[in-house]
Amino acid sequence: MNQEYEKLLHCLDCVREKTDFVPKVAIVLGSGLGDYAQSIQVEYELPYGDIQGFPTSTVPGHAGKFIFGTIGQVPVVCMKGRVHYYEGYPVGDVVLPIRLMKLMGAQVLFLTNAAGGVNPSFHAGDLMLIRDHISVFAPNPLIGANIEELGTRFPDMSTVYDEDLQDLIQRKATEHGIFLQRGVYTQLTGPSFESPAEIRMLRLLGCDAVGMSTVVEAITANHCGMQVCGISCISNLAAGMTRNPLSHKEVQEAADMAAPHFKKLVTETIKGMVL
Ligand code: HPA
Repeated sequence: MNQEYEKLLHCLDCVREKTDFVPKVAIVLGSGLGDYAQSIQVEYELPYGDIQGFPTSTVPGHAGKFIFGTIGQVPVVCMKGRVHYYEGYPVGDVVLPIRLMKLMGAQVLFLTNAAGGVNPSFHAGDLMLIRDHISVFAPNPLIGANIEELGTRFPDMSTVYDEDLQDLIQRKATEHGIFLQRGVYTQLTGPSFESPAEIRMLRLLGCDAVGMSTVVEAITANHCGMQVCGISCISNLAAGMTRNPLSHKEVQEAADMAAPHFKKLVTETIKGMVL
């Protein structure tokens, strides 16, 4: 059997020893949504460290566990803390949690992140609906032997971000008076922030927001047949767009400030999903 798949099944066994909870929606909480658990009727929490072979995050503010519970009537699993490629894990490990949540039963993947605004009309604190992505600056998570049990060798990526879910997010934002930008997200490896010249390049290529996550997760989820949606919190304008140097602290503080709207939008969208 494919080694990655074997590892995945072992992780699933570890989860199933602890809980038989079957989520419909998987949520990855980015910076600023760390305390989102407060919005969930929590049933069970599973620290990543309890799952053999599971990658554990080393970044402050990304301490890791799965939170199982319900939002409205919808059973969800939340990742509090994700693993980033820049931490040194092979990309197969970075996306293992996504596949694991699929095997737990999740049909939908809701991705969130903090991102730098590349589009000059964006402001720090804006939320952006992810309409599409540019993946060419990050390693493709599907490189290597294809896991046939999960999906096809050459998956189509024409509509990674489900159009019905995009419409739902936009509708919920409008209903609740939450201003929503829309745009293309790109993932660079990090961990250094971009240079001003790189940001000018990304703008020329049609990027609206830049970050260090999400795209590899979205590709993986699309490959294994999940419906994907995503929202970025624009925590800062990208390098060279203001006089300020960028810092992780600033990113976290801005994401925390946008958190109330962010949480409301995630919660209302999930409650509105027809599954
Ligand atoms: N660049 C890359 N990743 C980020 C940024 C940024 O400006 N802000 C938050 N995550």
